[in-house]
Amino acid sequence: MANATRGLFIAGNWKMFKTNTEARQFVLELAQNNPTHPQVDAWVAPSFTLLAGTVSNIQQAGIRLNVAAQNVESALEGAFTGEVSAKQLKDVNVAGVIIGHSERRSYYNETNASVNAKTKTALAQGLLPIVCVGETLAEREAEQTDTVVTAQTLEGLVDLTPQQVATIVIAYEPVWAIGTGKVCETPEANRVCGVIRQVLAEQFGDVTAQAVRILYGGSMKPDNAEGLLGSSDIDGGLIGGASLQADSFAQLLAIAKTTVEKLETARV
Ligand code: PGA
Repeated sequence: MANATRGLFIAGNWKMFKTNTEARQFVLELAQNNPTHPQVDAWVAPSFTLLAGTVSNIQQAGIRLNVAAQNVESALEGAFTGEVSAKQLKDVNVAGVIIGHSERRSYYNETNASVNAKTKTALAQGLLPIVCVGETLAEREAEQTDTVVTAQTLEGLVDLTPQQVATIVIAYEPVWAIGTGKVCETPEANRVCGVIRQVLAEQFGDVTAQAVRILYGGSMKPDNAEGLLGSSDIDGGLIGGASLQADSFAQLLAIAKTTVEKLETARV
């Protein structure tokens, strides 16, 4: 993390896993061992059917954990069978939403334009957008990483004000590292997050770029989180597999807490 002001953001992406019973069990287990720090923003992103129950389980357990959805429709309401609106998410006290995850881009044809529309809707409705970008293996091998990530970032954020951009979260997730166990080497992950911050600085100004939280995602787990979270341009993680068990998610929160504490000590 580049500075103690941004803190760290740890988000578990549960993808299409867990029943309501399993999600409740997760919250109960996490409540037994929930390493918190005011500068560590902890989130889980469950499937739609688990959202309301997870929000209420968290309230009952009294733990600091926010809930995001994994997708949102950009239209506010209407004839969109199978979709869920931002207003419906707010109605069950969901606070954020993952937008443009690579699985949505590749299986459900989401584009930079749809990411942009969803991001605008989320912001207008008071949901925190967690906007995902990242190159495929073929793009990396063709040395297109920076070009792809730059285009995804700029096109995904078209027409937003610097003030709006300052509030959002961007997740850099190299597609080839997601769910594969192949983590992007820490210096390279940090370099690409730095490229994203530079692109934001050029487009929206340095103050905005310094405020944006940029996460790394792709096979992050307790074993490799320390180096990643301690890197200058990485402000947290979007975590799939290692977020499904309460104990490994708690370990990730503990590593984030220690990282923030070290940084605060260094600042004094
Ligand atoms: P992973 O998933 O941690 O299982 O690689 C990350 C993600 O898809 O957000």
